[in-house]
Amino acid sequence: MTADLSPIDTAKYVAAYRAADMVENGMRVGLGTGSTAAWLVRRLGERVQQEGLRIKGVPTSTRTAQLAREVGIEVVSLDQAGWLDLTIDGADEFDGDLNLIKGGGGAHLQEKIVATASDQMVVIADAGKEVETLGAFPLPVEVIPFGWQTTRTLIEEVLDTMDVLGTNSALRMNGEAPFVTDEGNHILDLHLQRIGNARQMALVLNQVPGVVENGLFVDICDKVVVGYGDGRVELRDINAGTVELDQFLGGAKDNLFSDFSD
Ligand code: A5P
Repeated sequence: MTADLSPIDTAKYVAAYRAADMVENGMRVGLGTGSTAAWLVRRLGERVQQEGLRIKGVPTSTRTAQLAREVGIEVVSLDQAGWLDLTIDGADEFDGDLNLIKGGGGAHLQEKIVATASDQMVVIADAGKEVETLGAFPLPVEVIPFGWQTTRTLIEEVLDTMDVLGTNSALRMNGEAPFVTDEGNHILDLHLQRIGNARQMALVLNQVPGVVENGLFVDICDKVVVGYGDGRVELRDINAGTVELDQFLGGAKDNLFSDFSD
């Protein structure tokens, strides 16, 4: 099956596989959303089945909750778990300080709550997600449906005062209808091209009435596991300032996820 994976899927796969090794018996684990996080959930399910790994998983979306149950992970709510040992999630972009843009899958509200309620957040990503400055990926902002057009106008006014290269925004659609998040809200994707000050942007956006949460994760992520298309994996720890390299070869990969599609 490995041979069937594209380089980008191989990169996501090996990053997820490496991060799954960080999960230990008895942990309460935040389970991210998206195609990379789905590889992780599947691998953790395999560890549960094969090694008897005992964990409680807190999913960050209905999609992830469904997959986690399917692969045999015990699913609990964040309120039931209280606090988490570790959250592992994907990202749309990450920079050298491990600040992130998330929400490409529309789940960044729950993802941010869960990651913030964790001792440690680990991001898993293919190498193409690394950027010097955040902002090429449109920044998702979750807004309540009531008066969303007014909220958009207010956001664009704020953006005029910020260090960005673009101020256009688009309501995310799902076919003909606006996309609806797990919390019943909509998403505005901000085409900023470059975010000069991510910390300031994250704070300012959340001050706009109607905004529920933006997709900037500043000072939340502790480690990133970067996967490459040739099977290499790099683990960077921002606090320790360390970088570890690893190489995942065929073998185990071929046995995994053969019936999996996200
Ligand atoms: C979900 O809302 C997002 O934050 C995802 O974590 C992010 O979009 C990464 O997704 P992929 O792993 O599918 O690239």
